[in-house]
Amino acid sequence: MLEKLKTVVENALKESESASSVNELNDVKVKYLGKNGELTALLKGLKDVPPAEKPAFGKAVNEGRQQIEAKIGEKEDTLKRAEKMRKLIEEKIDVTEPSRKVKVGARHPLTIVKGMIMDIFVGLGFEIREGPEVETDYYNFQALNIPKDHPARDMQDTFYFSENLLLRTHTSPCQVHTMEVKKPPIRMICPGKVYRSDYDATHSPMFQQIEGLVVDKNITLCDLKGVFDEFAKAFFSPETKTRLRPSYFPFTEPSVEMDCTCSVCGGKGCRICKGTGWIEVLGAGIVNPKVLEMSGIDSETYSGIAFGMGVDRLAMIKFGIPDMRLLFENDLRFLAQFKD
Ligand code: DAH
Repeated sequence: MLEKLKTVVENALKESESASSVNELNDVKVKYLGKNGELTALLKGLKDVPPAEKPAFGKAVNEGRQQIEAKIGEKEDTLKRAEKMRKLIEEKIDVTEPSRKVKVGARHPLTIVKGMIMDIFVGLGFEIREGPEVETDYYNFQALNIPKDHPARDMQDTFYFSENLLLRTHTSPCQVHTMEVKKPPIRMICPGKVYRSDYDATHSPMFQQIEGLVVDKNITLCDLKGVFDEFAKAFFSPETKTRLRPSYFPFTEPSVEMDCTCSVCGGKGCRICKGTGWIEVLGAGIVNPKVLEMSGIDSETYSGIAFGMGVDRLAMIKFGIPDMRLLFENDLRFLAQFKD
């Protein structure tokens, strides 16, 4: 029996020593000291040992057990330390490595273009004003000489909250708000969002306009042409030419549409200008005297020019954007191209 015990202990010590991982060491522990382990089996055999030898054998088993436990404990420490070292080396952080680049965002193309337009007009002495996006029928239509049932209301598919309350379909109501609170001379532009029930490659239910209004003594169509010319040259290029075409808006009389030579082909004709060499940029005209009067301005003394342009449309022309929906999809691959 004692012989056997000696072999078991020796084997256990040897196997503990050669274990190469904590897992392997655990297996050794189970193999010898576990419930069905070899040393436990020897202890269970104690009952077959002659009574006189029992104390000595029991003592020997216990000593063997202690020896094995001590060895396993020691080996466990060594293995754990080695494991820790390996991890430390493997997971080492290289503090000399360059840090990750911080991603800088880009301004939205509409914000860029709106800023450019505002800068140009501020340079011409215009002030910037704002108006509400939720308007009454009066400001959006009636005060602009578009009475109820006027056919011009069909030109703009309006979102109504109620019979009297709506999302503004253009920034023109801002003309009325301005004239109600300011005496001439007035020189203002009003950028802002407008809404129409319309959606395709060149129309979005929400888009942005910039309204312009000048009211003073002796304001004529020449002033309008002059302002537009300055604007087109600054916004597109100094070579840009402009022209006026007759049009109709209820709030201006006469009304015009203003074109400039295509900034892409320089007037030769291309895809952007549909082969005409000209691009329609804005609607404008001499403020209808009725509109001045309704807002409390004496139309005998004063006259005005007004214009309205689409920011989205201008951004599309400026950057050659083929589909308006790209402006609203927020695809970063598209937006990142406008870093300035
Ligand atoms: N409000 C017009 C529209 O949305 C644009 C416009 C045309 C504004 C002529 C004006 C103007 O101030 O004089 O279609």
